[in-house]
Amino acid sequence: PEAKNALKDEIKTLLKEQNGVLVAHYYTDGDIQDLAEETGGCVADSLEMARFGTEHPADTLVVAGVKFMGETAKILNNEKRVLMPDLAATCSLDEGCPSDIFSDFCDQYPDHTVVVYANTSAAVKARADWVVTSGIALSIIDHLAKKGEKILWGPDRHLGGYVQRLTGAEMIFWPGSCVVHEEFKAAALELLRAKHPEAAILVHPESPASIVAQADVIGSTTALIKAVQSMPNKEFIVATDMGIFNKMRQLAPDKVLIEAPTAGEGATCHSCANCPWMGMNSLEKIAHSLRTGAGEILVSPELAVKAVLPIRRMLDFAK
Ligand code: 13P
Ligand code: SF4
Repeated sequence: PEAKNALKDEIKTLLKEQNGVLVAHYYTDGDIQDLAEETGGCVADSLEMARFGTEHPADTLVVAGVKFMGETAKILNNEKRVLMPDLAATCSLDEGCPSDIFSDFCDQYPDHTVVVYANTSAAVKARADWVVTSGIALSIIDHLAKKGEKILWGPDRHLGGYVQRLTGAEMIFWPGSCVVHEEFKAAALELLRAKHPEAAILVHPESPASIVAQADVIGSTTALIKAVQSMPNKEFIVATDMGIFNKMRQLAPDKVLIEAPTAGEGATCHSCANCPWMGMNSLEKIAHSLRTGAGEILVSPELAVKAVLPIRRMLDFAK
């Protein structure tokens, strides 16, 4: 703990010296989330992270999360320096959607509105009409469907399928998924629910339809945290990355949180739902990045002017 405290103190000093602020996602290590809050930064879902970066006057944004979050911050704040603890922290959705192939796919459907999930590269965003996060996907697709627009959606087919089922929108899908949420097992969840009949089931919409179908609440990380605070239930079964338990426990210490199963009955699986890329963030890497300037996110200005439009459209819609 002494070494950890020294590291935290060093980060605090470096942030002050460089007029920097730490913006963390709920899936990162609890120490990082707590430090972000302690130092006037934020811990948030991906929509709120994007908004926070634009509203905060810092010169340097240190984004603890995965690469698309740092890129979004840079695209929205070209004048700010954006650092990431580890530039190799990517996302299976981003990795599974190469911009050249995605762009060819879009070319085949010129009469479709291109809506991409925020979990994509700057180049994919630059090809899109809209960017959405899980917190706002449903209302944006509903808005577009009501206007009669046909939608080309990428890359998360589970989130896309969920919003299509609710809105009835005409949609074509890119076949991507999140390796973490894809692991939740429907039959095992049914058994677990039977053992905890009073528990509320909280599900992130990156999960497969068979998991979403069992949910009491479906929403972004922020929405799921709010549900734990506001619902009267004592027990919650949570189908998303384990990192979210840190904030849930802080805000609702008397609630019982149970991991949704990522394996069949009998298998003991602790912390299976853990994004390997979110796990690449650490206090040591944050300190290193601030000490040396390593891990700076750069987005070419030509790409940024295109990619900023669909992101701004989302932020303006969310207002
Ligand atoms: P949120 O926008 O809900 O924070 O989700 C981001 C993400 O990557 C979930 O896997
Ligand atoms: Fe990507 Fe899934 Fe990790 Fe979120 S949890 S960053 S969607 S791989």
